[in-house]
Amino acid sequence: MSAPSAAGLQAFSLAGRRALVTGAGRGIGRALALGLAAAGAEIVLAGRPGSSDDTLKTLADAGAPATAVDLDLSRPADIGADLLDRLPGPVDVLVNNAGTITREDAVDVDLAAWSAVVDVNLTSLFQLTRAVAAPMLARGTGKVINVASLLSFQGGVRVASYAASKHAVAGLTRALANEWAPAGVQVNAIAPGYIETDNTAPLREDAQRRRGIDDRIPAGRWGRPEDLVGAAVFLASPAADYVNGHVLVVDGGWMAR
Ligand SMILES: NC(=O)c1ccc[n+]([C@@H]2O[C@H](COP(=O)([O-])OP(=O)(O)OC[C@H]3O[C@@H](n4cnc5c(N)ncnc54)[C@H](OP(=O)(O)O)[C@@H]3O)[C@@H](O)[C@H]2O)c1
Repeated sequence: MSAPSAAGLQAFSLAGRRALVTGAGRGIGRALALGLAAAGAEIVLAGRPGSSDDTLKTLADAGAPATAVDLDLSRPADIGADLLDRLPGPVDVLVNNAGTITREDAVDVDLAAWSAVVDVNLTSLFQLTRAVAAPMLARGTGKVINVASLLSFQGGVRVASYAASKHAVAGLTRALANEWAPAGVQVNAIAPGYIETDNTAPLREDAQRRRGIDDRIPAGRWGRPEDLVGAAVFLASPAADYVNGHVLVVDGGWMAR
């Protein structure tokens, strides 16, 4: 068999596409923003004021076109079509990366703490996706990539609100994929395994939890944010034009165990 041609690899190029990434100031979101930029996309960093400054500078230093817009996902009711007026232009790829987590026994979780997680991880994701996807649907093209979790499939330990929200993100991914596939918009998700970020720092600091996790990862190591870039570039690119409603697990083999 011959090697893939340059023309074949063009299907993975994001040249000429604008990608909006939420929560790109650190962790997975930062790696995805830099990775999508390396694949040719113009990047819009959407996050709390000032949070994306360092990523913006890194992109600018690399000569990659990028802008930042303020977006606080803790108030879903405030997220609407007016956001579109603050963007540099139409969005081709929306990456719903931002997320939050609290670890507590379920009986101790008060309603405010529950809502804080569900608002950011699910309800704001829904609001933002509807706002950004409306012009995609009108144009008949676009990609939405949601960042789900292994806790879209499993219950986790002392993270009821997070697991509930991430199960819902997987369900919403499929629901929107069904609804929008006929209009040429593909909605998919990436489910990262255990990735070394601030989100999982408490797990790495807990020797017992850390050992249990280490022992179950067939790849023999935790993931790094950069490990998720290939999946994101693929799902953002024309190569994924016939991929709809898929939750792509990138976990070093955790779910296969
Ligand atoms: N790390 C893992 O092992 C893992 C595994 C599965 C899924 N995930 C998911 O991957 C995504 C990224 O997580 P991460 O590991 O990179 O975590 P992280 O380092 O804690 O980053 C979380 C990001 O979300 C942003 N964010 C949180 N609340 C926000 C709000 N109210 N408004 C706007 N932005 C907000 C943060 O912005 P600020 O800097 O302003 O706080 C930050 O950029 C999340 O959806 C997470 O659930 C992570």
